[in-house]
Amino acid sequence: MAHGAPASEIDLQPLRTILEDRYNPENYQDSLELIVQACQEAQHLYGYVPKAATEAIAEHLGVSTNRIFGLLTFYADFLTDEPGEHTMLLCHGTACYVGGSQKLVDHLDLRYDVTSGKTTRDGTLTVQIVNGCLGVCDLAPVAQLDHHDYCGHLTVESFEGLMETLRSESKAATGEDSDETD
Ligand code: FES
Repeated sequence: MAHGAPASEIDLQPLRTILEDRYNPENYQDSLELIVQACQEAQHLYGYVPKAATEAIAEHLGVSTNRIFGLLTFYADFLTDEPGEHTMLLCHGTACYVGGSQKLVDHLDLRYDVTSGKTTRDGTLTVQIVNGCLGVCDLAPVAQLDHHDYCGHLTVESFEGLMETLRSESKAATGEDSDETD
């Protein structure tokens, strides 16, 4: 997946080319699956689904932008805002839920004011809470970081440690020393 490009730098031509090549609005105007796939193409290109891409997809497929926004909101896999420096999939599937993922979800909300699809205020981390299984239930409760690293058997304490590590690395990289939760 691409890193998130600022909305002002979005080049819609690659998306338009994909839409022209693979998505025929006459045949698929009402296909939920096709709209979702087109949004996945946009997220793959830009790291999220920018408003401009949503409008391009709506125009190409002949559907309303509201319908697409509804789908983007419904499916937890989509980001509609430019992602932070790191991205995390926090599994909230059955095994992870049984293992305590709700406490991690609550911690994110209470300490960082972050819900699914949102980014910490310092821009360090974007979190997606995934209700489907990530396929590594033996690590439950588990989070996938930056699309490849798995952090398993999470407790609120170890999760907070992970958050602090990410944020301190980010501060070290940028030279900042403020605490967003202060
Ligand atoms: S339910 Fe979380 S990895 Fe399977």
